[in-house]
Amino acid sequence: MKALVYQGPYDVAVTDVPDARVEAPTDAVVQITTTNICGSDLHMYEGRTDVEQGKVLGHENMGVVVAVGEAVGRIRVGDRVSLPFNIACGTCGNCFKGLTGFCLRANPGSAGAAYGYASMGPYDGGQAEFLRVPWADFNALRLPEGTEHENDFTMLSDIFPTGWHGVELSKMQPGESIVIYGAGPVGLMAAHAAQIKGAAQVIVVDQQADRLKLAEGLGAVTLDRSAGDVVEKISDLTGGGADRGVDAVGYQAHEIDGVEHPEIVLNELIQVVKPTGGIGVVGVYVPEDPGASSDLAKEGKLAFDFGTFFFKGQSMGTGQCNTKQYNAILRDLIVAGKATPGFLVSHELPLAEAPAGYEHFDKREDGWTKVLLHPGA
Ligand SMILES: NC(=O)c1ccc[n+]([C@@H]2O[C@H](COP(=O)([O-])OP(=O)(O)OC[C@H]3O[C@@H](n4cnc5c(N)ncnc54)[C@H](O)[C@@H]3O)[C@@H](O)[C@H]2O)c1
Ligand SMILES: [Zn+2]
Ligand SMILES: [Zn+2]
Repeated sequence: MKALVYQGPYDVAVTDVPDARVEAPTDAVVQITTTNICGSDLHMYEGRTDVEQGKVLGHENMGVVVAVGEAVGRIRVGDRVSLPFNIACGTCGNCFKGLTGFCLRANPGSAGAAYGYASMGPYDGGQAEFLRVPWADFNALRLPEGTEHENDFTMLSDIFPTGWHGVELSKMQPGESIVIYGAGPVGLMAAHAAQIKGAAQVIVVDQQADRLKLAEGLGAVTLDRSAGDVVEKISDLTGGGADRGVDAVGYQAHEIDGVEHPEIVLNELIQVVKPTGGIGVVGVYVPEDPGASSDLAKEGKLAFDFGTFFFKGQSMGTGQCNTKQYNAILRDLIVAGKATPGFLVSHELPLAEAPAGYEHFDKREDGWTKVLLHPGA
């Protein structure tokens, strides 16, 4: 089958790889209809992880089941399904608690597994014609059959639940104000989630005008960092500090001139969120980052403003999204017409054009917000 493989920094290619197949009785094989390029894929693309050469990338996958192992009973051939980016066994201590992003069995020696991702287990990704899905009964989310809502449903595998998770981690309640750093796909999904959850005021901060425009379309107030410091503006807008904050940027946070400072978003959130407020961090931070600009950051350590964080009595929640906690209710919101996460799709490409898609998306070129690949096209 054809698949997109990682060959080295800034080098991905569509090549022939062995067909995905049922390897364990609990597996299914899904024919991919849509698979997205994610901001998280770019950490690998830019050579900022230890992902191995030859790995098939792609953790945002949906499609139609074409084969099941003999122990699969709930999911059937022909089902249209969304696959959470987390691969989870369903029966370990963490899976029992719903913490499927931290499954103790799927990635032995670590907590949490994913398709096509550095340090997340030996699983190939779905930027390919077919995908092997372990523990298929537990992991696959059934979707209404047909092709309706394809561009909305394809956000259920990662970024819509992840944006929602960021708002959950911030402990936002209806009627509160929330400031979201990053207007990439994850930040835009967090803004969409905050609106659906009844935020009184949503403020989105980025330095890319095209992305901020999409946030504006969601009814958010937008602040462009390239037009000057935003800390005072947020204070003015919120009467002294936002109730809640979300980091949808992560460790590659940078100044307007492009220089990376992995701690700047976290420290700015501590400044702009009010005393006793909550901060949800879904932007990714890593234990080791050999490509970082400072010695501290190379070891995954940050100059974090803990004194102010403590003094303000704030709380913070972090980590990978437990996609399965949210994807069924988010599917139902889409079906009911109350959520439309597909609004951010900017490009739909056949698999063969995926390398060009990576290049444009990685440069955050104007208008390249979210790229979908259709391997069957
Ligand atoms: N926790 C999870 O489960 C999970 C899942 C998916 C993605 N992620 C992570 O979420 C983060 C965002 O993902 P994405 O797909 O939206 O990525 P992206 O790179 O497309 O978007 C990041 C945005 O942050 C902006 N930005 C950079 N520095 C900034 C700063 N100092 N202040 C404000 N904005 C700044 C950029 O201009 C960009 O628009 C990434 O770190 C990704 O790995 C986490
Ligand atoms: Zn993703
Ligand atoms: Zn588990």
